[in-house]
Amino acid sequence: MLSVTLVTGIGELTTNDPQVGDGSALGVLRDAAVVVQDGRIAWLGPAARNPAADTAIDLDGAAVVPGFVDSHTHLVFAGDRSVEFTARMAGEPYDGGGIAATVAATRAAGEDELRGLLSRRIAQARAQGTTTCEVKSGYGLDVATEVRMLRLATEVTPETTFLGAHVVPAAASRHDYIELVTGGMLAACRPYARWGDVFCEPGSPHAFDADEARTVLGACAAAGLGLRVHGNQLGPGPGVQVAVELDAASVDHCTYLTDADVDALAGGATVATLLPGVEFSTRSPYPDAARLLAAGVTVALASDCNPGTCCSSSMPFGIALAVREMGMTPAQALWSATAGGALALRRDDIGVLRPGARADLCVLDAPTYAHLAYRPGMAIARALELPDRGLTAGRADRLRTWR
Ligand code: NIG
Ligand code: FE
Repeated sequence: MLSVTLVTGIGELTTNDPQVGDGSALGVLRDAAVVVQDGRIAWLGPAARNPAADTAIDLDGAAVVPGFVDSHTHLVFAGDRSVEFTARMAGEPYDGGGIAATVAATRAAGEDELRGLLSRRIAQARAQGTTTCEVKSGYGLDVATEVRMLRLATEVTPETTFLGAHVVPAAASRHDYIELVTGGMLAACRPYARWGDVFCEPGSPHAFDADEARTVLGACAAAGLGLRVHGNQLGPGPGVQVAVELDAASVDHCTYLTDADVDALAGGATVATLLPGVEFSTRSPYPDAARLLAAGVTVALASDCNPGTCCSSSMPFGIALAVREMGMTPAQALWSATAGGALALRRDDIGVLRPGARADLCVLDAPTYAHLAYRPGMAIARALELPDRGLTAGRADRLRTWR
């Protein structure tokens, strides 16, 4: 029989369920407990009323939030582009040209090397409180390497994205490469992918324009993939409009938006996913989250962890940037990094803590979630490992620093 675990001593529980607790969008409950069975939440409520369980984990007053949903990463890659980063900090612009270096390193890496790199990156993300990662291909740009990237990604997440249309590889003609991406490469990658994505950025000589993006996304949709778009990263462009028109689940970056883009997002079902680590690491202007929220757009925050534009998977870092630089409150930023990410993946079983949802808990070494932005750069968030998930059981060993 499956064991039942009680997680108690939660000083502040953020559920993202407005029916619970303080009635806000975050559904915050004080002095709470959660009961977990078979990896799902069986019960949550006041600690004083918790039901019996086989095992108890006492968090001694810590805050708990839903595990971060990082809906945009490129965690399968080999190589290092710190030289490119250093040049950028000295004034070089980013145009996507450096992707070729990662493609060369990723093609040259063995499967075991890539698997090891990926599993260490997933462990790093969990150590910072992330419990769901989307993972893209796009550093292979040939059939064998794109398939390998996606097959490895399926070993760590169901949220896998075919990004053969990341850039046109050196020496290929645009026309021939798009034929490959929408033909043989898509067919080979399809069994390993849930989503299809395209880098729609006519300002980059390496990426794809609106018509090319429609061709790629149309083929992906016809193959049964859900759609996502990299758009409006380097300047104003058609990415948002194409994404909304094709009912993509998310359009990611959204750094440069016109009023028409904001209106389209407000009127459609496409989530605007903001990636503030990219603006930090490319020294670019930050997107205006407050403008999107005021217009009623659903906003997600994700890391975009990749070797070029943001070599960090830290969601707390993204939350701190979103609050400091993008006009979000700590509550809005937390919601976007959890519930917003879940909507960007069209999932209702993550990003929220309620009976039936996955028991993806993030424990903070803090009395309240506001510390995610208040104490930037501090290692205060971690995914809680539960015995039901076959991971480490036992006490909540941690170094308490906040009182
Ligand atoms: O999301 N913009 C396109 N793709 C990635 C960066 C890829 C790279 O430079 O390696 C991004 O920023
Ligand atoms: Fe990306």
